[in-house]
Amino acid sequence: MSDTVNPAVIRRADYAAPAFLIDSVALEFDLVPERTIVKSTMRVRRNPDAGAAHGAPGARLELMGEALEFIGAAIDGKALPEGAVRAHEHGLTIEHAPDAFTLTIESACDAGANTTLSGLYVSSGNFFTQCEAEGFRRITYFLDRPDVMATYTVTLRADKAAYPVLLSNGNLIEEGELPDGRHFAKWEDPFKKPSYLFALVAGKLVSIDERIRSGSGKEKLLQVWVEPHDLDKTRHAMDSLIHSIRWDEERFGLELDLDRFMIVAVSDFNMGAMENKGLNIFNTKYVLANQETATDTDFGNIEAVVGHEYFHNWTGNRVTCRDWFQLSLKEGLTVFRDQEFSADMQGGATDEAARAVKRIEDVRVLRQMQFAEDAGPMAHPVRPESFVEINNFYTMTVYEKGAEVVRMYQTLFGREGFRRGMDLYFKRHDGQAVTCDDFRHAMADANGRDLAQFERWYSQAGTPRISVRTAYDAVAQRYSVTLAQGYGDASNAARETQKGPLLIPFAIGLIGRDGKDIALRLEGEAEAKGTTRVIELTEQEQTFTFVDVKEAPLPSLLRNFSAPVIVEYDYTNDELAFLLAHDSDPFNRWEAGQRLATRELLALAARAQAGEPLALDDSTVAAFSRVLTDETLSPAFRDLAMMLPSESYLAEQMAEADPAAVHAARQFARKRLANALKRDWLSIYESHATPGAYEPSPEAAGHRALKNLALAYLAEADDPADAIRLANAQYDNANNMTDRAAALAALLAASASAGTDAAERALEDFYRRFEQEPLVIDKWFALQATQRGSAQRPVIDIVRKLMAHPAFTLRNPNRARSLIFSFCAANPSQFHSADGSGYAFWAEQVVALDALNPQVAARLARSLELWRRYTPALREKMREALERVAGQVKSRDVREIVEKALA
Ligand code: TRP
Ligand code: ZN
Repeated sequence: MSDTVNPAVIRRADYAAPAFLIDSVALEFDLVPERTIVKSTMRVRRNPDAGAAHGAPGARLELMGEALEFIGAAIDGKALPEGAVRAHEHGLTIEHAPDAFTLTIESACDAGANTTLSGLYVSSGNFFTQCEAEGFRRITYFLDRPDVMATYTVTLRADKAAYPVLLSNGNLIEEGELPDGRHFAKWEDPFKKPSYLFALVAGKLVSIDERIRSGSGKEKLLQVWVEPHDLDKTRHAMDSLIHSIRWDEERFGLELDLDRFMIVAVSDFNMGAMENKGLNIFNTKYVLANQETATDTDFGNIEAVVGHEYFHNWTGNRVTCRDWFQLSLKEGLTVFRDQEFSADMQGGATDEAARAVKRIEDVRVLRQMQFAEDAGPMAHPVRPESFVEINNFYTMTVYEKGAEVVRMYQTLFGREGFRRGMDLYFKRHDGQAVTCDDFRHAMADANGRDLAQFERWYSQAGTPRISVRTAYDAVAQRYSVTLAQGYGDASNAARETQKGPLLIPFAIGLIGRDGKDIALRLEGEAEAKGTTRVIELTEQEQTFTFVDVKEAPLPSLLRNFSAPVIVEYDYTNDELAFLLAHDSDPFNRWEAGQRLATRELLALAARAQAGEPLALDDSTVAAFSRVLTDETLSPAFRDLAMMLPSESYLAEQMAEADPAAVHAARQFARKRLANALKRDWLSIYESHATPGAYEPSPEAAGHRALKNLALAYLAEADDPADAIRLANAQYDNANNMTDRAAALAALLAASASAGTDAAERALEDFYRRFEQEPLVIDKWFALQATQRGSAQRPVIDIVRKLMAHPAFTLRNPNRARSLIFSFCAANPSQFHSADGSGYAFWAEQVVALDALNPQVAARLARSLELWRRYTPALREKMREALERVAGQVKSRDVREIVEKALA
């Protein structure tokens, strides 16, 4: 039987405007953990634009509701009799609704028992909400869809001693005392918003406050709210917020529109953070930091996430999504904005080498995670066509590939052209719920371009491949570059979506024998223009000819990663070494090193599979040695250049993924680089020390990164005695978490290579030192779950033992991620152990989590989705584990993942 109120598969093609609209809502909360009473008073009217065919039959109003206790409803003050209103599993049905009326509904929910962390829940005794995507319906009956936008007035009532702070969206307009030790606060949000942006917070919290003036001179109150013992970890988040506000004014002319902007940190949270209007709620991981507890990476992530949520105020909140298929409209665009913000904070608008560090980090994530997603059963377009559970579509594709799609507009039109498109987008759509097409049309119209073909970036899944052929005609001094696009052997899910060639902005440079860029003149042009050109590939195959080319050049392809594609070109090892040494495009310099390393590592993995001896060419080692010691390059760049491609990325490149062979290959190469360059590593370790007071600047962080990379390599050397000595000293003397955690990681690595227990003392000390800091204890679990391990000491045994540790709990997502996800998703060779013990553990944990928190369980479930791509023995064991889970899970979330994996 098909269920029209709650269909199993939701399709983009079935979108219909809502039959009713809600213009305003007044919410009253009586906050009690076990039974919070919510009274909602709404102005409702029939939607004049609702299509007749899709509208609800007659005058029936269907409101969504989940896990609610219905108490009563009234229309225009008259209680609805039985028969006129019906509460059911998915919501509330009201018969014979008038054309315009006031609807009052009273209901109750149990926040204390809510382990899903969606809707209203309790964490450390405080109340929080999480409404995106469909959590508001767990708070009250509503038209819980993003194209229903209303103004909200919220009254919170609670015991004053237990809940001294009462927050909601917008401006505080009234507060006061109530009988029996209770108090209230009334908040008003002047901006219309969809229900997913509603938020409330109540509890024992404290804030740091700042007052700033925004661009137009208005005073704004900024607050970061945390539990009292965390107040000493809020400065960096506040600074990041101030920088974000300034950046959005300068780069996009966008000003903060509320008098007050709040960030609240909560330790139980499903994702990173949430952009609720004026009241952002954050995972503590992306707020709390000081030098003792947070690494340089944490500091950078906090800046990025604070920026991301703040930028949503315009891209997401002022202009929101018509339906959830348009999610990338706000997420892809906002990720692009936060990437640009972080790059500007690192390198300003013009220091290309410093900006490239951020670009490389972002591309690494895209290639490692999004390309893998595209190759499996969850492959979907940036704008998906269907879903079972929307929470499963907050994906790498929607976020990271979506950001690349937005970036391509900027690559095509330049920063000014992109800004023109943004300005037009806000001029047309401020206050509306719109689609990805609306954004594309604004970009097209502002720049006088037809972007019809560009639509395919939103509707085609899979990673495009561009194969490149080049030819040099010495007599005619012409150099031709032929680009052909396709999808290779894309997954079935990806193949089904393909319609035709994409418009691909392809940035290219040509390098002469002297290592310098050649001025570029395309056939038909009067003169040369610049040394990097963005050529536009629009057909399946096209040839571009450069003229006046005096010698056979070396092509530098897809500079700065100008499109989210795979480039296939047969460079020789010598050519890659040359690019690694000379390319003026810093991204492609890094890329050349990665190509060289990938090729060598895959060859090593093949030898490992065949049981042949492993060897790495001196010339390859020399190419890396030159980068490592090139003082003209920043330490941060050298750190990235010396980092080998990850095991999961390498496994993904094999016809049949073999994690054990990849691990053997990568470990061999690390050891070889550790031994061959030992003197360099030691001297780098010394010369990049950062003595004196801790400084979180990008430069200081770069020195620490390179120094700690040196330590990590030294720990792989045949004789790790130096590493153990240095790491112990660094551990004891560290004045910051970056150095302390890196020292502990090096000790764990050294004990794996040396078969000693060199890490035991530091591990114990670390735990005792930071027992009161949950985010640091997460690191303690994660470091152990991702350690190398050995045949005598398999990591699964350590993980199972840690599951019984008093500090472990499945209920806190950060903690579950720190141990279980770290092992299942970030320790491939141990997880994919041939005996299947990793998969058995995975199955147990998915089922256990499913009963508590389906969103988190579904994320974990995804660690087996690429099972078909592995060697036959592993494949078989993975299928068994998936089938076991499929037979036991209850949630829609996990069922969608395992069923798609097995289909
Ligand atoms: N919109 C949020 C962001 O990208 C993320 C988000 C979506 C989220 N659903 C969530 C966060 C559920 C927490 C829980 O910034
Ligand atoms: Zn977002």
